[in-house]
Amino acid sequence: MQVLSIINQKGGVGKTTSCANIGAALAQQGLRVLLVDLDPQAHLSISFDRMPEPGDPSVYTLLTQGHAFADVSQPTQTEGLSIAPTNLDLTGAESELANEIGREGILRLALHDLARSKDAPDLVLLDCPPSLGTLSLNALVASDFVIVPLQAEFFALQGMAQLLDVLERVKRRLNPSIEMAGILVGLFSKQRNLSREVVEELNHHFGELVFPTQVRVNVRLAEAPSHGLTIFEYAPDSAAADQFREIAAELSARIGLAGTKKSVAKQAAPKTEAQSPVVTEDVVASHAAPPVTTPVVAAPTSEPLLEGEAE
Ligand SMILES: Nc1ncnc2c1ncn2[C@@H]1O[C@H](COP(=O)(O)OP(=O)(O)OP(=O)(O)O)[C@@H](O)[C@H]1O
Ligand SMILES: [Mg+2]
Repeated sequence: MQVLSIINQKGGVGKTTSCANIGAALAQQGLRVLLVDLDPQAHLSISFDRMPEPGDPSVYTLLTQGHAFADVSQPTQTEGLSIAPTNLDLTGAESELANEIGREGILRLALHDLARSKDAPDLVLLDCPPSLGTLSLNALVASDFVIVPLQAEFFALQGMAQLLDVLERVKRRLNPSIEMAGILVGLFSKQRNLSREVVEELNHHFGELVFPTQVRVNVRLAEAPSHGLTIFEYAPDSAAADQFREIAAELSARIGLAGTKKSVAKQAAPKTEAQSPVVTEDVVASHAAPPVTTPVVAAPTSEPLLEGEAE
């Protein structure tokens, strides 16, 4: 069982959309995938129409009352894809756990039990909240891999230095085996020069860590959750469905899900060294300041956020 966090403390960059649709794509390939909603906003749970009633077993009760994944997980309409949902109760978890000994390791223990059970999935995807508090720390401590989704916009990399710093500290102090699986451009507008410039800049700084396929802005991706569906049920022939299939295939190869582990980007940690960094120090240093050096035009464009796609 592999565990992967989808994390960025910036809000609205495509974490939840990526989690649902990468998970669904891999389940369609025959893997057993569990999605875990670690965000008190409960967007992942809502998008599968699986939000528990207050007080019912959820990720909140798993973290604070000792419930196991077996108590909490529910199937989705996609075969092979299940979800450990949450509800707004999770909002209180950070403060409730503030004085708990070993609070950042609670999720890891629950996942450890799941890994040893007959219901162990092949992959667990953790949808993190847009913050770097106890919930995100639980995710990083429990994870083998991390994906960082970004929006190809001005300020895309703001906060990246802080995130990479947290990843480094987690790797040094709490979870030496964590590795970056990739940086995913989750909202790319092919009509904006700015999007292209940001992707060029990302490729320059992070090289092969950047997934070669970007998720383009597509109104169907925004609509699908309101119907309780993934893109594969809502618009299976869309470009967005194809993009998520490609990203899922690339991820499988990178982390060895399909049995073919390809070397993750050159900047990723050399696997042999226990203290190896998640990314090189050069990369971290280059993000000490917002690194988008392209002549970024901050002025708003007249484009709508959700453009239709030309397929
Ligand atoms: N490629 C896309 N095209 C169009 N809309 C998208 C795309 N990706 C995400 N969205 C929409 O943008 C919004 C933010 O996406 P999402 O919820 O996945 O981001 P997030 O990083 O999980 O946000 P948060 O930080 O609040 O959890 C949602 O309304 C989602 O439906
Ligand atoms: Mg989200």
